[in-house]
Amino acid sequence: MTENWTPRSWRSKPASQIPNYPDSQKALAVEAQLHRYPPLVFPDEARELKQKLADVAEGKAFLLQGGDCAESFAEHDAGTIHDFFCLFLQMAVVLTFAATKPVVKVGRIAGQFAKPRSSGMEVQDGVELLSYRGDIINGIEFNEVSRIPDPERMAMVYRQSAATLNLLRAFAQGGYANLENVHKWMLGFIRNNPQGEHYETLVRRISETIEFMRAIGVTAESYSALRETSFFTSHEALLLGYEEAMTRIDSITGSWYATSGHMLWIGDRTRQSDHAHVEYCRGIKNPIGLKCGPSLKPDELLKLIDILNPKNELGRLTLIARFGFDKVEEYLPPLIRAVEYEGRKVIWSCDPMHGNTITENTYKTRPFNRILSEVESFFNIHQTEGTHPGGIHIEMTGKNVTECTGGAHAISAEDLSDRYYTHCDPRLNADQALELAFLVSALLKRDRAS
Ligand code: PEP
Ligand code: CO
Repeated sequence: MTENWTPRSWRSKPASQIPNYPDSQKALAVEAQLHRYPPLVFPDEARELKQKLADVAEGKAFLLQGGDCAESFAEHDAGTIHDFFCLFLQMAVVLTFAATKPVVKVGRIAGQFAKPRSSGMEVQDGVELLSYRGDIINGIEFNEVSRIPDPERMAMVYRQSAATLNLLRAFAQGGYANLENVHKWMLGFIRNNPQGEHYETLVRRISETIEFMRAIGVTAESYSALRETSFFTSHEALLLGYEEAMTRIDSITGSWYATSGHMLWIGDRTRQSDHAHVEYCRGIKNPIGLKCGPSLKPDELLKLIDILNPKNELGRLTLIARFGFDKVEEYLPPLIRAVEYEGRKVIWSCDPMHGNTITENTYKTRPFNRILSEVESFFNIHQTEGTHPGGIHIEMTGKNVTECTGGAHAISAEDLSDRYYTHCDPRLNADQALELAFLVSALLKRDRAS
């Protein structure tokens, strides 16, 4: 058992980014209700993910983590989940083929509803209101009532996450993810663009391989690995009252697990080593992610690693580098060297989104070429340092949105207003996400060859 830790020990530490509920009794009542609800995920599954991430840490597998910046109550329908899952499978197959190693699939989904904000207040036309903090906390509409933190939203998130997970489990294990369906995962609007053609070529090669394997007796009916896939969920562990309510003791091992998602991460704004978010995460046995931005010093990182992974377990800790295309070369190498020098086992993953956000035409956006550039630098740095580029962490949607500029369709600043739907940060659309997957696959092939 982790020393002096309980699911509520975070409450005695300074906590930023957590709302004050005007009705605190109601918050406690909703948390008590959630505590009685069934878990959303099971400790065994979190252990399975940790096992797979141990392979990533050793360079034997690659991590693909992605999804919405913020899930929302408004965008909750089967089509959205289907398109997201479909795109995820496409990207995974592209990466698996290039890396010739398994791709560990982790969605930012079924629980990704709480957002850290750089400012507590938002001003529009001279009116100042509380900032929107994600649908689990308050409403995005700019009016006083909607911005009041409402605890009932935690129960709504639980129910939406359960429904989303139910469909994801069906897609992953009910036949849809069967590799023999590889040609069916193509989203309609990608079909006729450069990524679509690129993907079709790959699909032809995979289909031929499957036919060859069938001829020698290796079929989807007899091999579950061809028929189904493992898909895991993740979100930022931000709203700790909700996380505490979903924390359970595993009857098999006697350890505490977060059951709100398989993997939880600590955001760049809440990673102070003596604060509440680190305190909560140190005690749960799930795989943990830690966002690493430009303000993180090597000493502080080592201290955080001591707290979050004291036994130096493989697969426990994923460091998610999010520096920005123009800062990664300066800030990432010193962190890698400190970790290597101390012999710490971590996964290095690249989030090329959060250090590359700019404002254009009043929209928050991310230029696609900067995203590609950060990923490329990340791979180059690992090659130089002799370490593994373990994965990527991206914000994406299967929908044909116009939120990030650039890509094959050359979305311009003027185009952003066409289909800008995100509830928080700009996401890659399906074209851009697939294009990124092909770039990463080229880098993985290069690393294989060297
Ligand atoms: C996020 O992943 O949406 C996020 C807020 O990231 P970061 O903590 O790295 O800023
Ligand atoms: Co984001």
